[in-house]
Amino acid sequence: MKDWKNAPCDGASRFENQFSQPLKTHRVFNNPQVLTQGWYPTLKSSALKPGTACSHKILNQRLVLYRGQDGTVRSMDAFCPHMGADLGNGTVIDNRLRCYFHHWEFNGDGSNAHVPTLSTRCDVRQQAYPVEEKYGFIWVFAGSTATHPVPVAPGLESTGADAFYLEEITLFVHHHILMANGIDLNHFATVHHLTVAFNFEVTEKNSEYVWEMEGKLPHQGLKARLARWLLGDTFRYRVKISGGSVATITYGYRQQFRGFGRPLPSLHLLWGATPQPSGISKVKLFLLTQKRRGVWGKVVNLCLYGLTLVLLTTIQDEDIKAFPNMRFTTGHLVKADESIARFVQCLNQLPLSNWTGGGWHESHIEPRSNV
Ligand code: FES
Ligand SMILES: [Fe+2]
Repeated sequence: MKDWKNAPCDGASRFENQFSQPLKTHRVFNNPQVLTQGWYPTLKSSALKPGTACSHKILNQRLVLYRGQDGTVRSMDAFCPHMGADLGNGTVIDNRLRCYFHHWEFNGDGSNAHVPTLSTRCDVRQQAYPVEEKYGFIWVFAGSTATHPVPVAPGLESTGADAFYLEEITLFVHHHILMANGIDLNHFATVHHLTVAFNFEVTEKNSEYVWEMEGKLPHQGLKARLARWLLGDTFRYRVKISGGSVATITYGYRQQFRGFGRPLPSLHLLWGATPQPSGISKVKLFLLTQKRRGVWGKVVNLCLYGLTLVLLTTIQDEDIKAFPNMRFTTGHLVKADESIARFVQCLNQLPLSNWTGGGWHESHIEPRSNV
């Protein structure tokens, strides 16, 4: 049997067949040279102790992260405005950060707090970025103001979410391809052997797009019959794409046992992605559940994590074979690929972060495309 997990994951296919099969490029979708204004996972919260700082790079953007004595994490551009030392080598003093080189000090909002050789503060401001700690990680927003909080999966907005961090995966492709897979309605039949006629609707709010999908389960096949027995004749799920960098999925959205009985718990996944210069992405994967209290709540959530893991393993093992050597293109989408076309269109409208860089400029690629 072929070992798919050891397939090449260097992103090289992006540069192959350039003349016989030129790659259609997009403003945002599947474009590894740009970063969207969204949340990016960085370090585990436990890795940054109070009173410590570190340097962290996302694509071509170097940031400093530091935790003040009050326990709050701050982030700003890493290079000191004085002579460019990496502030990640600096010292945390109370809730300020002092540069190692000449001891300039900065507040968490990037304002200058002290210059040893001046009697007054210097009128220089370092760009600071919104930070949130969620699911055991420090997340940084690639923009001066966050348009939305670190996402929760659809259906968990009012209860809040507990999370289990599973692992960081190196994808064979850009993370937008993984996200597109969740709403590729065609591949349910071909890859997962589940022929469901799905309808979908898309809503948008503050750079978060939600795909609401619903379909009738077929009568044939073991998986379908099992699903029918559990859910009745309808399967409902939601995919939320937040700022182009985080995807959440809710399987079994607001479903009842056999379609009319007790409400069934949904299963939730969250992917937080960071693109790599080669065109592939690293993705942190979390299992989410509704927040539940007490020992019984913990037991219920452990069972749900287990079920989500079983579902994920099944789906992932089937999906993963599509990715090695793939060079995703939108050149010949057909009517049945409507949800993918919509996905590409939505992503291409997202605001870019000024972390986009490395000599690249938006005018270098094709203008915004409808597909
Ligand atoms: S380079 Fe930071 S204080 Fe001089
Ligand atoms: Fe899939």
